[in-house]
Amino acid sequence: MTTTHAVPDLDAIRERFPALAQETIFLENAGGSQMPGEVADVMHAYTRKTFVQLGAPYALSEHCGQVVQQAHDDARLLVNGDGCGEVVLGPSTSMLLRMLADSYADVIEQGDEIVIAESGHEANVGPWLRLERQGARIRWWRVDPETGSSPLEGLHEVLSERTKIVALPHVSNLVGEVVDLAAVTKAAHDVGARVVADGVAFAPHRAVDVEAWGVDWYVYSTYKVFGPHAAVMFGRHDAFAELVGPNHFFVPDDAVPYKWELGGVSHEAAAGIAALRGYLQFLAGRDTYDRDTVTRAFEVMERHEMPLQERLVAWAQEHPQLRLIGSAGAGRERVATVSVVHATKSSQSLSLVANRENIGIRFGHMYAHRLCTALGLRPVDGVLRVSAVHYNSPAEIERLIDVLEPAL
Ligand SMILES: Cc1ncc(COP(=O)(O)O)c(C=O)c1O
Repeated sequence: MTTTHAVPDLDAIRERFPALAQETIFLENAGGSQMPGEVADVMHAYTRKTFVQLGAPYALSEHCGQVVQQAHDDARLLVNGDGCGEVVLGPSTSMLLRMLADSYADVIEQGDEIVIAESGHEANVGPWLRLERQGARIRWWRVDPETGSSPLEGLHEVLSERTKIVALPHVSNLVGEVVDLAAVTKAAHDVGARVVADGVAFAPHRAVDVEAWGVDWYVYSTYKVFGPHAAVMFGRHDAFAELVGPNHFFVPDDAVPYKWELGGVSHEAAAGIAALRGYLQFLAGRDTYDRDTVTRAFEVMERHEMPLQERLVAWAQEHPQLRLIGSAGAGRERVATVSVVHATKSSQSLSLVANRENIGIRFGHMYAHRLCTALGLRPVDGVLRVSAVHYNSPAEIERLIDVLEPAL
């Protein structure tokens, strides 16, 4: 039976993160999030006590096999992929996407078209561009240079019967707007194309639901979702079936995920991924771990995040010297990743003002290099980005604004 407890308040949430007890203000979460203590503790204990190889018939090895299996099961549940697909674990989103694109190189033919969103992080751009060598034709889903948004009409203009792949960010790590992934998937499937969504900038904020969106491939980095340095790639069963994974010849093609986990996965990272369920249960106020727990936990995150987002967006919109990147106001159509550009001052100089006060924010292109160029920015200076998650406090946002205001 599931027992439901009260949903935790911000103080209780922050207590779960040892790093937040320090003076540093963590507003660089789109770069990487903090870990709940219980995730770090489990990883520590795993390496101290159970650091053995999998697959041997002794108790410790079997235990480790179960931990790695649980990491897969939990990640699959986190994206709501049970029943429709499988997840592969890997060292990073960049590596997983590169591996995926390399596998597509075997099936892409001369004249096939690949649509790439210009708004993408380079991890979901460069690997697809390389398929030009196979004769693929690249079509760009362009960014509106004024707003930084990527309206769906831009996608419709470049889709054709020849499109095989559409590669896009679910949320740009710089713009912060949520793309209507179900609509993108519908449009791509209508012409017979597969959708490869980079979910890195979405997954720390809302519940991923690959089933509802119908997306073929969905990739996110666990170190931005309160876990260890690793990444998860969901693929639909039928999408996996079209490709041959990179693992050795004697691993059967249909042995998913093994065929795609060349050299195996980080076992200690798997332990951390599996340990996140405890934190999500705490957030959701539930004793059990199931899909309801995941969605409730992310609802709680969203509830805590929304006032932070509203304050940041209002500040950026109202300030006469700041240009807010993206057309979305505060609300469900964006996450709390807010980028601005000052009329005359460099992003670097403003970032330094905050950094000197122990506030972690960042400037630059954030690997969305092409997006910055499309926006008319110098990528080397790029934008000033503030990225909050649910454990940040309104006081931290006020502190940032107080520190920046004199410099603006
Ligand atoms: C939107 C987005 N996609 C992809 C990546 C790359 O992720 P990884 O560091 O796991 O390769 C990042 C990292 O910052 C990102 O923000």
